[in-house]
Parts: sequence; structure tokens; C-alpha cells
Amino acid sequence: KMGDIDEEALRNRIKKRVLSELRQTTYHWNSLKYDEELGVVYMASRLAGGFAAVTRALNEIKKRDPSFAPQSLLDFGSGLGTVAWASHLHWGDSLKEMVCVDSSGPMSVLAERLLKGDEEEAEPLFKHVYFRRFLPVSPKVQFDLVAAAFTLSELPSVKEREDAVITLWRKTSSYLVLVENGTKEGHQMLMEARDTLLKKQEQIVYDPRPARVFAPCPHEMMCPKLAREPIIPCNFQQRYHPLPLPGPHECQTEKFSYLILSRMEPAQEGTEGLEWARLIAPVLCRTRHVHCHMCCTDGQLQHKVVTARKHSRDVYRCARNSDWGDQLPIILKVEEDADSDSE
Ligand SMILES: C[S@@+](CC[C@H](N)C(=O)[O-])C[C@H]1O[C@@H](n2cnc3c(N)ncnc32)[C@H](O)[C@@H]1O
Repeated sequence: KMGDIDEEALRNRIKKRVLSELRQTTYHWNSLKYDEELGVVYMASRLAGGFAAVTRALNEIKKRDPSFAPQSLLDFGSGLGTVAWASHLHWGDSLKEMVCVDSSGPMSVLAERLLKGDEEEAEPLFKHVYFRRFLPVSPKVQFDLVAAAFTLSELPSVKEREDAVITLWRKTSSYLVLVENGTKEGHQMLMEARDTLLKKQEQIVYDPRPARVFAPCPHEMMCPKLAREPIIPCNFQQRYHPLPLPGPHECQTEKFSYLILSRMEPAQEGTEGLEWARLIAPVLCRTRHVHCHMCCTDGQLQHKVVTARKHSRDVYRCARNSDWGDQLPIILKVEEDADSDSE
């Protein structure tokens, strides 16, 4: 009898431990229902931060491809219209059609209200925004700029994310921009999307131009951050002012991950002896030297200590004034650089 009691107590203890471990380590995914109430909550809590992240990601195209003048935009999971606002900010002069697709009617209603400055009869603050519940059916219709911000993480399975990414790519004539939270999960989803588009062969090819990684990765090899334990996501940060609502008003920081794929040939290629790495952490400025943590064109992470003496005054100045997320020019030298280590 005594033995039975002990066994049962032990079983209960094990059960409790397992459940507690599971609660801590397992993420219970549940789809969110974006009704009117959640729309307002989303606006108060996520609109400004999401807008900051999307604007920053799109700025990468604006900066590196200044002649890009998109006429059409497709935003999948458009929510409150963040991508349309950010795109209007960058390319308001050229955009003639912005198609915002969201399965939630209430989100699109709220987005339209925001666009009209909360005045039902008013003209929208900018024109050519069209709200839809579904993606355009024809695979032949393409948009210059296609985006999905914080939407892949709303889809319930890897398969649905893969299908969505393939469909969005088919609809892309220049750039596909994906933005997610700067978490392990967000980064992982973007790397899955990258894998899908770089490796998967479509059965019917509508546009034969292959996908190229435009940003943030300076290479098309496996993400070196996924190859090490513990996995630290590749993310970036953007400061922003929260909406003027009751609560704290000081500047906040949005941590996000993003991926931009392009149908175009890389524009920066062709400068002999120069490569562009991506700063994947804040630069640490010390006396006469700067610590730079970078992802490099060979698919490796590197920690470089940049000094004026070793790397030239220009490169040193450039490193000092660069920030997490920027590209850093690397002048290729024939001899080995003693002050850099693979991470
Ligand atoms: C987290 S919100 C992001 C909204 C917006 N992109 C932003 O950056 O603020 C995700 C949006 O995706 C929409 N959504 C989720 N699944 C969808 C689907 N299968 N098709 C279209 N929209 C979807 C939701 O209704 C919601 O508005």
C-alpha cells in the first residue's frame, strides 16, 4: 500500500514537472480574430511600432535603389494600412495603385477611417488605396512592390506560409518585402521564406527572373545565425514616437526582422575590391578603434576591430558613424587581417 502511494505521488510530481516545462517551452499558437475591438487595441499598441519597422525596411530600397519609382503596391494582411502609409511616404509621387488585402473587414474599415482622418465624408489623405478581402486571382497580374508585414506569423502552418510566400513572389515584379517581429520565431519564418524562394522550382513559371536576396543578408547562403546554439535572431531596431495616447510618451524602440527579395540584378556589384557587409549589432566606439559585428558576403559572421591605421581613415570614420543594420563597405586586402575573428 505504502509503495502504491509513493508511486502515485511520484507520478503526480512528474506530471506537474512535465506540464510546467511544457508551459515554459511550448508556444500555444492560436489565430487572432481581428474584430473591431482588437483593431482598436492593435492601433493603440502596435500601429506606431509597426509603421516604424516597415518604414525602415522600405528605406533600404529607397536608399540603395533611388531610381525605383513603383507605380503599384500589393500589401498582404494590410491591417490598418501601415505599409500603404510607409510606401506613400517614400514613393507618394509615383504610386498609382495600392491594393490592401486583409481577411478582416473591421481592420480594413478602421484603416479607411484612418486614411480619412476619422471623418467619414472626407477625402482620403492620399488616393489610390483599394481595400480587398482576397488576393487578386490572376497569377499574371504583378505589382512593383509587394509586402507582408507581421502577417506570415498570423498564418497557422509552415505550409500556409510557404504557399503565401510563393503566391506573393509570383505577384512581385520588382521587390518583395517581408517584415516580422524581431524574435526567434519571426526570424525563423523569414528564413523559411528565403529558403522557399531561393530553392523551390515552380511548376508553371510566370516570371523567369529568379529571386535574389536584396537585404539584409549580404549573401544567399544559410543564415549563419541559425547554425549556432543558442539561436539569437537576426534583428534590427528602430526608434519611434508612440501615438499621443494616455500612457508613456517617451521614444520607444521596435525590434524587427525583415527580408527583401528582388527580381533585379544587384546594383552594387562591379566595384572591384569592395564588398558590403551588414552590421548585425550596435557598433562599439572605443578610443581610436571601433568594434563591428558583421554578417559578410562569405556567409560568415565576423567581429572586426576597425582602426584608422589599419583600415584607412575613411573606413574608420565610416565605421564610427554607422549603426546596427547599416551596410559597411569592406575593402578587400590581399593579406590576412589580424584584428578580425570569425565569430
Ligand atoms: C498583425 S496584423 C498586421 C497588420 C499590418 N500589416 C501592420 O503591419 O500593422 C495581421 C493582419 O493580417 C490579417 N490576416 C491574417 N491572415 C490573413 C489572410 N489569410 N489573408 C489576409 N489577411 C490576413 C489580419 O486580419 C490582420 O489584419
